[in-house]
Amino acid sequence: MKAIDIRNKYLSFFEKHGHKIIPSAPLIPENDPSVLFTTAGMQPLVPYLLGEKHPEGTRLTDYQKCLRTVDIDEVGDNRHLTYFEMLGNWSLGDYFKKESIQMSFDFLTKELQIPVEKLSVTCFKGDENAPKDNVSYEYWKKVGIPEDRIYFYGKDDNWWIAGEEGPCGPDTEMFYDTGKPACSADCQPSCNCGKYVEIWNNVFMEYFKSKDGKYTKLEQKNVDTGLGLERMTMLLQGKETPYDTEIFAPIMNKLEELQKVDSIKSRRIVSEHLRSSMMVISDGGRPSNIDRGYVLRRLIRRMIRHLNKLQIDLNELPNLIELNIDNLKEMYPDLVTNKEIIKNVIIEEKDKFVKTLEHGEKEFYKEMEKAKSQGKDIIPGEVVFKLYDTYGFPPEVTKELAEENGIRIDLNKFDELFKVHQEKSRQGAEQKFKGGLAEQNEITTAYHTATHLLHEALREVLGDHVRQNGSNITSERLRFDFTHPQKMTSEEIKQVEDLVNEKIKEDLNVTCEEMGYDDAKKSGAIGLFTNKYGDKVKVYTIGDFSKEICGGPHVTHTGELGKFKIIKEEASSSGVRRIKAVLIKE
Ligand code: ALA
Repeated sequence: MKAIDIRNKYLSFFEKHGHKIIPSAPLIPENDPSVLFTTAGMQPLVPYLLGEKHPEGTRLTDYQKCLRTVDIDEVGDNRHLTYFEMLGNWSLGDYFKKESIQMSFDFLTKELQIPVEKLSVTCFKGDENAPKDNVSYEYWKKVGIPEDRIYFYGKDDNWWIAGEEGPCGPDTEMFYDTGKPACSADCQPSCNCGKYVEIWNNVFMEYFKSKDGKYTKLEQKNVDTGLGLERMTMLLQGKETPYDTEIFAPIMNKLEELQKVDSIKSRRIVSEHLRSSMMVISDGGRPSNIDRGYVLRRLIRRMIRHLNKLQIDLNELPNLIELNIDNLKEMYPDLVTNKEIIKNVIIEEKDKFVKTLEHGEKEFYKEMEKAKSQGKDIIPGEVVFKLYDTYGFPPEVTKELAEENGIRIDLNKFDELFKVHQEKSRQGAEQKFKGGLAEQNEITTAYHTATHLLHEALREVLGDHVRQNGSNITSERLRFDFTHPQKMTSEEIKQVEDLVNEKIKEDLNVTCEEMGYDDAKKSGAIGLFTNKYGDKVKVYTIGDFSKEICGGPHVTHTGELGKFKIIKEEASSSGVRRIKAVLIKE
């Protein structure tokens, strides 16, 4: 069975059992600045697990695009991935353990036809916060899992929470026996030897853990499940690794054909990181030196380094991207829509990296010799930081180089220096922010409102793919960055200008309303969703033309703005355009 067939089977099975199929949320969370990427299917659903009503009801199912970077250094082995797809089903205060276990069992044994002999399950053994989960144990026995294949473990294995705080609870996990020989007489699902592979996790979310470590009962009992699609595909196809399935095989084969030096690890890293980067870029991510952008930069740069190790000409990259999009387009049609942006972003980042790579490697070897000649087997953190700061070497690239050369690096010292550097950038940004506030006056207020008109006008003229990527206002001009794949024609620029001026002439009312984040979204408001769950946001409405989430301030009537003129339209980065515009008082 192909991955897409497993996905479709899953969704229609749960649809048959009363679940509404909801779309995957973007990989880049829309309303949660506290996490870099979506890491689990439940993440976009937190408000509903906490009791808010979901418009689609109390039974939901979806496939969720996920990115987890904690194991990025492990990618290249036979199982770790950064990007993966999680199939999930949820009960929001609807069914609980009994139905959840019954449905999982039926899906595995009837729909996927996994023999029951291949399955083992684990349950929570209980502690001071929650009792032993005998209820799940009894249901598993009832559906047909023999007692000796039901295991009880503690919080480390059978409790699930995303991060430090949030909805959580005991879980029951399902394991697939690969048929490999047991590593010892004591071999069981918790063992890492590879005999047992975890395939599904059903979390019975009835608790809330707060930051101070206290557990309280939630208002409703939820079920949150997650099934890793790549892993399931691999097992059902009897393959050893996800790279042997149709998700990766075409790109792996192409790399093998092109390589001049053989390395399966490098081929895996290239295949894996290429897919992740494409998915991140397709959802709006761009490389940079901080946060999300930095993760993307690491992925692309590590991929480039391994293409080099395979001695594959970097000019092959566009072809490799094409091939990968072609292979994945059925699963992710967005990749086709965003093909040019994906290519441009990766190629641009490659060009940047190539420039620094040679210098950086030279510097690395110089420092390595120095350390070795001093009888040391470790490269100082200061050097790792210099390679990062001056040569654009992500520390794990340095680490890999070091490993290849039989030397270690001082990552602790690097982390320390990196933190100081981050703090300095943060203070710098705060200074800038304060400076920005000081300039807040009538003129900048007018520019704020003009920015909203411009944003909406761009969407009307160019299309709904236009999303704000950045905005900066001084008393001289506004600057607005937005996603759009190509240069605007002079005709488009004129249309946007005319539309904004028309709305200014109409002297539209500007009104402000405070509402919950979800209501704002439901009302059709656009804008950067940077507030935390539960926060109130301000929504500014301009006539019936624009509705946008924003902190303000704004003018009360568009007639106050004067004449709007675009003075520049240029590239900001790949797939992102920048407009500078002024307001001329008439
Ligand atoms: N949220 C659970 C997980 O990610 C299902 O494993």
